[in-house]
Amino acid sequence: DPRTADVLVIFGITGDLAKVMTFRSLYQLEARGLLSCPIVGVAADDWTLDQLVERARTSIEGTGITIDKAVFDNLAARLSYVSGNFADASVYERVGDAIKGAETPVFYLEIPPFLFGRVVQGLSDAGLTSGARVVVEKPFGHDQRSARDLADQLHQYIDESQLYRIDHYLGKMGLEEILYLRFANAVLEPLWSRNYLECVQITMAEDFGVEDRGHFYDPVGALRDVVVNHLMQVVAAAAMEPPSRGDPTTLKDSTTTLFRAVEEADPAHYVRGQYDGYLGIDGVAKNSTTETYAALRLDIENWRWAGVPFFIRTGKRLPVTQTELRLVFKRPPRLGFGPGGHIAEPNQLVIRLDPTTGVRIQVDAHRADAARIRPIELDMEFGDEGGEGPTPYEVLLHAAMTGQSTRFTRQDAVEETWRVMQPLLDASTPIHTYEPGTWGPAAADEVPAGLGGWRMPWIGH
Ligand code: BG6
Repeated sequence: DPRTADVLVIFGITGDLAKVMTFRSLYQLEARGLLSCPIVGVAADDWTLDQLVERARTSIEGTGITIDKAVFDNLAARLSYVSGNFADASVYERVGDAIKGAETPVFYLEIPPFLFGRVVQGLSDAGLTSGARVVVEKPFGHDQRSARDLADQLHQYIDESQLYRIDHYLGKMGLEEILYLRFANAVLEPLWSRNYLECVQITMAEDFGVEDRGHFYDPVGALRDVVVNHLMQVVAAAAMEPPSRGDPTTLKDSTTTLFRAVEEADPAHYVRGQYDGYLGIDGVAKNSTTETYAALRLDIENWRWAGVPFFIRTGKRLPVTQTELRLVFKRPPRLGFGPGGHIAEPNQLVIRLDPTTGVRIQVDAHRADAARIRPIELDMEFGDEGGEGPTPYEVLLHAAMTGQSTRFTRQDAVEETWRVMQPLLDASTPIHTYEPGTWGPAAADEVPAGLGGWRMPWIGH
């Protein structure tokens, strides 16, 4: 079994991610008795430890948690702080002093990706990387070439097995639920194929905009921000073959095998949108053509999925915040009896990932009070069963500290997802403006045209 970390070192602890996610996650892990090691923060700011502890407190409270004093005191007692410039070799010596004797340090890089190489080299030069794990935030590259270059750079100092790439969707309970629903249920599994499905639709809608993230978002756009990573993880869970074992290598092999079967995306089925008002955001270029909405089609060329298009759409400033995977079944050939024997909507199976998890089966029924067949919905909200789990960042931090690498992405899979998206990155697809609060540009309706169009997401309570 992998060793549990004996120290957690967070580079960039004074930054935004720590403020909105990391402190809160550490607090929750502390509350559940899952933290067992010291935590060293590293950043350029000239802070005292008291300032860091204060930042931790306000960050946790800022996420809506009411602090339990004993839990917070335990967390605060773990903290120490090293300040310094990442370009300067002395900072790695001071980190070395702060973690003296540690055999399984976890270095979590909450810093801009252009610094990953510098920091890992610094850690390596200071002799701190043997037995270490290095956790990096997305994005991992901005296209296929740069993802490969970044890996080559990091592999000079650490092995692939030491590198833990975060895609926080791999910490989502809803994503895991897809695999359990598929492979734990003989009543469901056989239906997940070209024999019964007409298409698959993945919708990730967000009702909020880019707000104060213009500087980050404008060079990135929706395709790079959420499709190549998060939504491809949904595709993998929905489409991969049952893994034959539970070890990380076998599970990651299943993902990579599936990605290899995904054809390069065709720009002819790609629609880009930008919400009206985006150009006024701080940090956004005046004439920016960055997409805040993307709709595309993927085809998977293997026996299970040949002929079943996967339609993906995502956008900011849409009417709701909602992420779902939807299987749309083929229609029965005919009904042939009964009044109004026309089937309006094919069966659908929906797995909702956000904002809460649930599963819905939509079937057609003849209701005594209705003159014709109409859909009825069999819904199951996991939250009603106490089934909402910890947040993704709690799951991932704990997984990194205990060496559960399954929840992190591997280089070959990352390169495959960039390969799939590369033609879309290279194409000069026009950008359509859309009104905030709508379902994006009308042109996107063409993407699943002929197959009944986009289905309205299942809005849970
Ligand atoms: C992040 C993106 O990775 O994922 C954001 O940068 C996006 O733009 C977010 O809003 C969505 O994740 P979640 O889990 O909050 O729905």
